[in-house]
Amino acid sequence: MSAEAELTIDGTTYTLPVVEGSEGERAIDITGLRSQTGLTALDPAYGNTASCTSEITYIDGDQGILRYRGIPLEEFADNPNFVEVAWLLIFGKLPNADEYKRFSVRLTNNANLDEDMKHHFMGFPRSAPPMAILSAMISTLSCFHPQLLELHTPEEFEAAAARLISKIRTLAAYTYRHSRGLPYMYPDPQLPYISNFLHMMFSQPYQRYESNAEVRRALNLILILHADHEQNCSTSTVRMVGSSKANLFASCAAGVSALWGPLHGGANVKVIEMLEEIHNGNQTADEFINLSKDKSSGVRLMGFGHRIYKNFDPRATMLREVCDDLLAKLGIDDPLLEIAKRLEDIALNDEYFVERKLYPNVDFYSGIILRAIGIPTNMFTVLFAIGRLPGWIAHWHEQNRDPGMRISRPRQIYTGNQKSSYINIEDRK
Ligand code: CMC
Repeated sequence: MSAEAELTIDGTTYTLPVVEGSEGERAIDITGLRSQTGLTALDPAYGNTASCTSEITYIDGDQGILRYRGIPLEEFADNPNFVEVAWLLIFGKLPNADEYKRFSVRLTNNANLDEDMKHHFMGFPRSAPPMAILSAMISTLSCFHPQLLELHTPEEFEAAAARLISKIRTLAAYTYRHSRGLPYMYPDPQLPYISNFLHMMFSQPYQRYESNAEVRRALNLILILHADHEQNCSTSTVRMVGSSKANLFASCAAGVSALWGPLHGGANVKVIEMLEEIHNGNQTADEFINLSKDKSSGVRLMGFGHRIYKNFDPRATMLREVCDDLLAKLGIDDPLLEIAKRLEDIALNDEYFVERKLYPNVDFYSGIILRAIGIPTNMFTVLFAIGRLPGWIAHWHEQNRDPGMRISRPRQIYTGNQKSSYINIEDRK
């Protein structure tokens, strides 16, 4: 018999079902709470609320476990490429050879932007924040491909997913080229996903950029490690927007905006700014740690802490290894890496961080890797967005296929004025 929870309010006891996930996670199903009791549940920031059931990603934050469609993250260290992982997340299984080929061809065929779209970049100042451009340009895509706004068949959905995954990389590269006043490089149909991105970022019309295998490997892994993280802020945003039946492009553009924030994807930029501040001698590592413990300072140790991980973030562990490895192979001696390690060491031995179970998260080392690859700091969150896009698409799709899907519409507990009357302006104080 499945478990039930009892809730007693004002002397009346109500029974609520308990649901269990495939890994034994249990939740009280409160979908009937209001109709039974007249009450709602209050959970600001959703710390205790499962907003949906999902088959995509499993996290056990106490044990530092992260699995995509059941496969532990660690198994992605060497084998599949980002495109296979994108397919896995979106369609629920690793692609077979035919599916992989078909999807790769779609990615190649969709890499180019409509020439008219390039004019839109001209409208942005060179100094425009790349995440603002990315969000705007993903929305703009829907104007150029209106046939993809209504996705009725699996074929139409696959075409739209491929178009978006392919074009986000071109949009990202062109955002960078525009900020530097560089000519846009056309995608090269001979190159696979990661190499093509690096080509569009760094080649010149008079000099082709030849990417290094170690760089491609590191970038591939970074994108995979960012590819999904269940109901995080940006993914929940994509689901929220998509729940109104908004199209895939509009929903993912909203995801980019949510990711931009410094408590979410924007943290990878803030980590480097913090490390640079220490490196420039404005503060020592110890001073920064002390400041981050002082609530009145408004300063946090960026790249540390996580809503779900209370042991370690497996993505950070893998990225630290990649970081050491890549810098050694490229012969780069980045002083920021030493500072990051020193901060980590101090924090992991400091009562404040130990008590609160604050560990390095995915953003702590990723920026140092991206710097080594030559990606400028203000583009880091754009790279996060390229990685997270398959996750957003997977969640949008899962939600849209759910026959029980309803528009997301939380309630609130009103704490404002009680009924009051309109006052004429001459009578107001
Ligand atoms: N530095 C100093 N104190 C911290 C930090 C930090 N990085 N993170 C949390 N705390 C403290 C916080 O002040 C609170 O203390 P107290 O209990 O005394 O009030 C306690 O730890 C719990 O923090 P919280 O704000 O309730 O935790 P949360 O789950 O709401 O926030 C977080 C999670 C990731 C937003 C937060 O840890 C943080 O701001 N970290 C720095 C920003 C960052 O690295 N973000 C990237 C997150 S991972 C990738 C992603 O999602 O994009």
